[in-house]
Amino acid sequence: MRNFVYYTPTKVVFGKDTVSQLAALLREQDAKKVLIHYGQGSVVRSGLLDRVKALLQEAGIPFCELGGVVPNPRLSLVREGIGLVRKEGADFLLAVGGGSVIDSAKAIGYGCANDGDVWDFYAHTRQAAACLPVGVILTLSATGSEMSDSSVITKEEGWLKRGYNNNVCRPRFAIMDPQYTETLPPWQTACGCADIMMHTMERYFAKDGAMELTDRLAEGLLRTVMHNARLLLRDPGNYGARAEIMWAGSLSHNGLTGCGSDGGDWVCHRMEHEMGGLWDIAHGAGLCAIWGSWARYTYQHNLPRFYQFATNVMDVPPDPSAQEAVARAGIEATEAFFKEIGMPTSFADLKIHPTEAEIRTLAQKYAAAVGGNAGSAVKIGAAEAAEIYKMAL
Ligand code: NZQ
Ligand code: ZN
Repeated sequence: MRNFVYYTPTKVVFGKDTVSQLAALLREQDAKKVLIHYGQGSVVRSGLLDRVKALLQEAGIPFCELGGVVPNPRLSLVREGIGLVRKEGADFLLAVGGGSVIDSAKAIGYGCANDGDVWDFYAHTRQAAACLPVGVILTLSATGSEMSDSSVITKEEGWLKRGYNNNVCRPRFAIMDPQYTETLPPWQTACGCADIMMHTMERYFAKDGAMELTDRLAEGLLRTVMHNARLLLRDPGNYGARAEIMWAGSLSHNGLTGCGSDGGDWVCHRMEHEMGGLWDIAHGAGLCAIWGSWARYTYQHNLPRFYQFATNVMDVPPDPSAQEAVARAGIEATEAFFKEIGMPTSFADLKIHPTEAEIRTLAQKYAAAVGGNAGSAVKIGAAEAAEIYKMAL
């Protein structure tokens, strides 16, 4: 097991009607004026936004609001948010929504707490020294952004989708009521389950992993998400299943399932971000579309872990004398699961047919974003990324 730092400062307040604790949590943070940040209307339709405003009014906590965050959140709205926070004198950002809203709030937080252009952080030309405090009311189990150090923003100019990681943006609190996810369309629930799995799988497929406890946690998390995703297919109102998935989403991306590894692989995420930048794909669906191709491209270089994944997660019968066949069966079983929950396993399934030139663009943008190459067992640069994108057509 390698050395690691496990840092998860977010206060999690989990369960039914936990939003009633909002004012107390804001007071604990000494919030004087709150910017309520949200998306394109799901929180209006569900009544959650009205509930949040009523709670703040009741508690005498002043607020302003900015809606309109879109999936693959845009830099232009982040800039608008920075201007609004400065004009209104808000000192606390409350994200009410999914990963896109949380990430947009984090970006506004960076922009307000540091001089200069906020995009510099996402372009990795300098580090943020601080971030305005962010609190979360989660409505979609997927990204883990409610506990993570990460924020992913798309710059419209050049359609660059870039992530920035820094501990200073980790949310101060996260209110997680699984009931809020009941209004999600089944497809969005499935995208979320896939993303949750991928956050653990990116960490799991590290080279030469020797981390017994972390592996068992990871395998348990993956099995739990698969089991409960299947339950939700039949019974979308199943509170228990929604609760298991919501908690798994946070644990999958708060670092827990990577403790002791080399940090993980992350190539699928980096490759998907380029797809999301170019075609505005839902993140979880984009990941499923390329994972199988990435896995087939790399598994022979990390066979013991693919074997372990196949047997311990996908229930492929063990056969140490046929490691490659078992590993391949594990990959097939994973893709079959993605299909079962309605996820794509290729570009064609996404109804996208990239041209040669578009594949080159994706691969070049990927390589530029990762600084040449990325990956744990196999280093994937522009040429290898182009191969994987082609395999996923
Ligand atoms: O905008 P509204 O109307 O709220 O609708 C949203 C949106 O259309 C809808 N939705 C959310 N909660 C709902 C709901 N609809 C009905 N009922 C509810 N309770 O769902 C749609 C998708 O929302 P979005 O926030 O975009 O989804 P998600 O949480 O999957 O976030 C995706 C973004 O996060 C990034 C992704 O790349 C993508 O940009 N990621 C962020 C990470 C992080 N910060 O740690 C890590 C991830 O790997 C990921 O890259
Ligand atoms: Zn993700």
